[in-house]
Amino acid sequence: MHVSFNLAALFDAALKSAATAIGLDAADFAPEVRTADPKHGDFQANGVLPYAKRTRQNPRALAEKLVAAFSADVLAACTVTVAGPGFINFTLQPAALQAWLRAFATREQLAAGAATAFAGQTWVVDYSSPNTAKQMHVGHLRSAVIGEALSRLLAFSGARVIRDNHIGDWGTQFGKLIWAYKRQLDTAAFARDPLEEFERLYKVGNSASDADPAVLKEAQQELVKLQAGDAENTAIWKKIGEVSVAAFQQIYDQLGIRFDYTLGESFYNDKVERVYRELTECGLAVESQGALVVFHPEHPRFKEQPFIIRKSDGAANYASTDLATILYRSEQFHADAAIYVIDSRQGDHCQQLFLTAQKWFEKTHRKFPHLEHVAFGTVLGEDGRPLKTRNGDNIKLKDLLSEAVDRARRLVDEKSAGLPEDERRAISEVVGVGSVQYADLSQNRSSDYLFSWDKMISLDGNTAAYLLYAIARIRSIFRKLEATPGDPSTETAAGAFETAEELALARKLTKFSDAVALATANLRPHFLCLYLYELAGEFSGFYAADKVAVDELPVRARRLLLCARTLLVLETGLGLLGLRTVNRM
Ligand code: ARG
Repeated sequence: MHVSFNLAALFDAALKSAATAIGLDAADFAPEVRTADPKHGDFQANGVLPYAKRTRQNPRALAEKLVAAFSADVLAACTVTVAGPGFINFTLQPAALQAWLRAFATREQLAAGAATAFAGQTWVVDYSSPNTAKQMHVGHLRSAVIGEALSRLLAFSGARVIRDNHIGDWGTQFGKLIWAYKRQLDTAAFARDPLEEFERLYKVGNSASDADPAVLKEAQQELVKLQAGDAENTAIWKKIGEVSVAAFQQIYDQLGIRFDYTLGESFYNDKVERVYRELTECGLAVESQGALVVFHPEHPRFKEQPFIIRKSDGAANYASTDLATILYRSEQFHADAAIYVIDSRQGDHCQQLFLTAQKWFEKTHRKFPHLEHVAFGTVLGEDGRPLKTRNGDNIKLKDLLSEAVDRARRLVDEKSAGLPEDERRAISEVVGVGSVQYADLSQNRSSDYLFSWDKMISLDGNTAAYLLYAIARIRSIFRKLEATPGDPSTETAAGAFETAEELALARKLTKFSDAVALATANLRPHFLCLYLYELAGEFSGFYAADKVAVDELPVRARRLLLCARTLLVLETGLGLLGLRTVNRM
């Protein structure tokens, strides 16, 4: 029997065909089926009311008509009721719950079920994207963590995902840096930590050119030479890029990130001329005070504040390279969508960029990809201000992650004193880094979030440690019973679910698909976090009420089936968020 992975989508489709069957325009009707409050059932359709209102019908009568038109297989799998002014509730039969759990017994089966949602679509995920010559600091955390989770969710949902690190490796700062490099390089420091030395040199070059106009001139000349392809300056600039990317990769390794492409701003240097030409030819770009700009007269702010796509000195800028990037992704990657995981402060840049690209693509008869700014708020310290060190400096990401691992180590030493030293070290790494990732992902990304070590590395609440501990606990149940999760002979012996807690846990497990769909469609991982947290809670309730190690085989087997699926969903879910998991804790 074919069992549908996404039951919400199944009921959605059932409602649409019921609508057609009773002569409605199904294209105009969005059933909006979502996971329901368990008091009402498993899923609830919320779309009947607005549709009835729009078409001037009685919503309750319409809901009843739709239910009467359901096909027999839907009605066999669940009880359908009409509630309140016109909600439709679906409550799955125990046999349908069990069929779902049997059909989705491995990560591969879950992935195959999920993979229809975005099948055939190419999504470029533009994330992390730090500037070179500087170390990554806490401000770079969210883009990397959120971007990675979204890449995994999209790939799981069937998209072809292209992870592109759009690093800032071009700009006026290189003049000052090269100036200082040629005069003040500390070779010993460079050998120790080259990126740190570049960072220091940039500060040297910057303050020297602030203090002395002659230095500023020299630095500008270094920049001109670099732009003209001077061999020595190009070699220094290349070195800066290599050293930076190698240092970034150490952080990415800790966070489980691997990019398909690192096409920084410099990659588009030779591609901006075409942007100027096309935008001018199609009448979008005009000269204004020596610069090339695009006005958006229909927009309240951008009609006066134009998008500058070439500076008055003739140089390319962030806008020109970003426009060239859109064209490249469309032509070379055949992107259906590109998402930009960037700080919400770049909202204006993104809006003007997307608006300009849309008009450009329309005028040149190109297929315009879906472009979206996946914006996020700032990381705040416990004082409610942007997180900084005590001296007011930016916190380096590598220091932040190593502090997380140290703090996790204290928790692990306390809770798992019996485990061998090297295992405790490995667990601390997973818990520490995972706590930082999870604290970020579990918040709605639109808001700022408060960085609190004590809350994030805790076994209580919606935290990584809580979920990792739930996984370790289920693994220990299997170890104690000398059983293997998903073992076929146990699974065939499993009887029908009976107790309230068994049924509640089984119901929660079938909602995994909807949680993934919601997180992916909205590009908001916190929906999945919340689901995993609730699932772990449901598991605790079940485990407290229903003993697994009973003698009666069909009972033990069905409870082991629930343990195995909870484990599978927790591990798969955390994996989708970019976290690693542990077997013991
Ligand atoms: N390098 C930029 C910064 O640090 C972020 C780039 C984001 N991606 C993009 N295509 N604009 O602010």
